Amino acid sequence: MTVKQRTQVGIVGAGPAGLLLSHLLDLAGVDSIVVENRSRAYCEARQRAGMLESTTVELLRAAGLGGRLDAEGLEHDGIYLQFAGERHHVNFRELTGGRWVTIYAQTEIVKDIIQARLADGAALEFEASGVSVADLDADRPMLRYTDAAGQRHEVTCEAIAGCDGFHGITRRSIPRGGLRTVTERTYPYGWLGILAQAPPSTDEVIYCRHDNGFALHSMRTPQIGRLYLQVPADEDINRWPDDRIWAELRHRLATPGWELTTGPVLEKSITSMRSFVAAPMRYRNLFLAGDAAHIVPPTGAKGLNLAVADVAALATALTRLLRDGQSDLADAYSDHCLERVWRATHLACWMTTMMHVVPGQDPFESELQLAQLRNLVTSRAAATMLAENYTGYAPLRYAPDPAALWTSVA
Ligand code: FAD
Ligand code: PHB
Repeated sequence: MTVKQRTQVGIVGAGPAGLLLSHLLDLAGVDSIVVENRSRAYCEARQRAGMLESTTVELLRAAGLGGRLDAEGLEHDGIYLQFAGERHHVNFRELTGGRWVTIYAQTEIVKDIIQARLADGAALEFEASGVSVADLDADRPMLRYTDAAGQRHEVTCEAIAGCDGFHGITRRSIPRGGLRTVTERTYPYGWLGILAQAPPSTDEVIYCRHDNGFALHSMRTPQIGRLYLQVPADEDINRWPDDRIWAELRHRLATPGWELTTGPVLEKSITSMRSFVAAPMRYRNLFLAGDAAHIVPPTGAKGLNLAVADVAALATALTRLLRDGQSDLADAYSDHCLERVWRATHLACWMTTMMHVVPGQDPFESELQLAQLRNLVTSRAAATMLAENYTGYAPLRYAPDPAALWTSVA
């Protein structure tokens, strides 16, 4: 027998977007259910982002999620840009009048929100199967799933939030013609990422352009490093034993007198790189947020930050729609988010193409990359442009009064 339920917002996906949305809606007194096809352990362990804009940190704090983030997050003033064997510091705090970035892993944000949601008695369904959305043209769309115990559910919703990432089902459920444009670019390289039991060899993150390809030295804690190497898009990870990874990182990141600390590799994987934007981010009462609507290559560290910005706006818009009966913010949701999405898409594409080397690229291309990088470390105006874009845009604040929140994010 199918269990029939009702909720205000049916949320598909328990990544950062879906979890944070359900938390923000709850603060505003709006009811939701989150349906996720993976297990809680899988969601909490999936290694991905680590770099948070100051705007994201401030929003998480305002939403009561700043406890562990403030205790364990690593606050950085800026980043290092390395090219032609030299490392240069770009001080965002100084260039932007106080904005910074914080290293705090996506896994930890996910754990913090799951814990907060469960403590609040939230409806959070992990290991759901057969997840589908239907009746999108009706006033009350339907969310269907089978729970971990095999019970089928049919949830009548006032709105559905598609927070199920790039490969999810919600965007693909939009009827033909419902998306105006789908814009996409793939890149001929990927990132081989490692998590290593090795104290970071740098105080702030290093973005490095090297003739062999890009390298990034990030971290998770004072004991755990997170490092990436540009590899061909279709690379076989078996070609990269740990010794080869460390040797290549050491080679690309080398500067005179600097040592790379190595250690056991805890995890490694290869990620492909893509830019993708689906517009509008809404079909009637289905709203897309985060990676379900857009993907950026990770070079600008924007994906998670965009997902947070989307759901800050969406929580406000849905609260106003469902609690106060006003549709203005829901109507403005897509355009409002897409402006930020395209700004971030430009930053991510620009940083990616400036720092990655396509094998056999002509010297003209290489010289243009180096000229841009030299400009960034010698011109305050150029560095400020990077700093403003990298650290975030307008402040994101969440207040359960939607009118107040919208003015702050607009
Ligand atoms: P996701 O995290 O993808 O969550 C979607 C959820 O939906 C998942 O839990 C998935 O299991 C679930 N789901 C999928 N299909 C279904 C279904 N049919 N039914 C139910 N549930 C479903 N961003 C940054 O801002 N800073 C960084 O430093 C950064 N670094 C990155 C490094 C790497 C290597 C990668 C790969 C990404 C990085 N990102 C970064 C991007 C960031 O991780 C993503 O943008 C972020 O995870 C998006 O969150 P989301 O909730 O929208 O989607
Ligand atoms: C990370 O810490 O995982 C990280 C940092 C910066 C990026 C991408 C990933 O641009």
